[in-house]
Amino acid sequence: MQSQLEYIVDRIASQNLLHAKKLRKNLSNQNESFFIRADDFLKRYIKFLENDHKTLDYSINCYLQMLADVNYEAVQFLKTGEYSSKSFKEVNQRVYNNPKVMEYYMHGLLLSQFLWTHHYEILLYFNKIINSHKSLINNYLEVGGGHGLYISEAINIIRDNAQFDLVDISKSSLDISGKLILNNKVAFIHSDIFEYSPKIKYDFISMGEVLEHVENPVKLLMKLHSLLKDTGKLFITTPTNAPAIDHIYLFQNAADIRKVITESEFQIEQELCIFSEDLPPEIAEKNKISMMFAALLSK
Ligand SMILES: C[S@@+](CC[C@H](N)C(=O)[O-])C[C@H]1O[C@@H](n2cnc3c(N)ncnc32)[C@H](O)[C@@H]1O
Repeated sequence: MQSQLEYIVDRIASQNLLHAKKLRKNLSNQNESFFIRADDFLKRYIKFLENDHKTLDYSINCYLQMLADVNYEAVQFLKTGEYSSKSFKEVNQRVYNNPKVMEYYMHGLLLSQFLWTHHYEILLYFNKIINSHKSLINNYLEVGGGHGLYISEAINIIRDNAQFDLVDISKSSLDISGKLILNNKVAFIHSDIFEYSPKIKYDFISMGEVLEHVENPVKLLMKLHSLLKDTGKLFITTPTNAPAIDHIYLFQNAADIRKVITESEFQIEQELCIFSEDLPPEIAEKNKISMMFAALLSK
């Protein structure tokens, strides 16, 4: 019987053969445990879609729409060397406050977590870090959870009586993640992170792919510094050279990211860099191939 993943890639092939070829190559390099995890995720996800009166085909169309945006932004980036969006105000209006865009963007991004090798590797890395810190986590904050997959993984790993807070500026993101997580332990907080002032400080903060969404990443990291306990840990991910409709701040390489981390008075405990194309790192960097940077930081 055809697996759900094969079905997804076949449907993508009917619209974009070249991209499907790349996805097939990604999948051919994966091991058995990937397919078990992907299958488990897709079962949960399809149930979530059904509860929301949607189908997997709906989600595949969302992915294709997100891909069309990425391709358009990539052409602009190649021409100008810059991201097309320049201000938070512009992106807030164009994306976060636009339910139609957020809907296809978040479903597309969710599928990419298993279709794109570099996204999947970062998810595994996050799981590994949460597993090794779970006994220290009494309260967990996620910033910009988007689709909600990361916090849902954290909930599965961290013990039951921990507190989980999720802050997102987009109401649409909170709606989507609220349905995916189906967990009444999470406090869903609709706020710009810069305006969030809780009474507590956190043991662990996770912020995946938000640093590139702000005008001043040092200011954002300083804000997280103020929300973290002195013994707390911060997990971040952010890409380099990754044009997208909501990316504002361009990191050109890992050194650019490490610089803002140091300026925000964080230390890097460990990090992982993965390019989106399977190329030697020097060639990938020279050709401005997008790279995902993930790191565990402490004060
Ligand atoms: C690209 S998604 C990231 C999804 C997920 N964390 C991941 O790593 O795949 C970015 C999310 O950050 C949220 N976001 C952007 N700026 C924010 C801000 N200033 N405060 C809170 N959330 C923000 C957006 O609404 C969106 O849900």
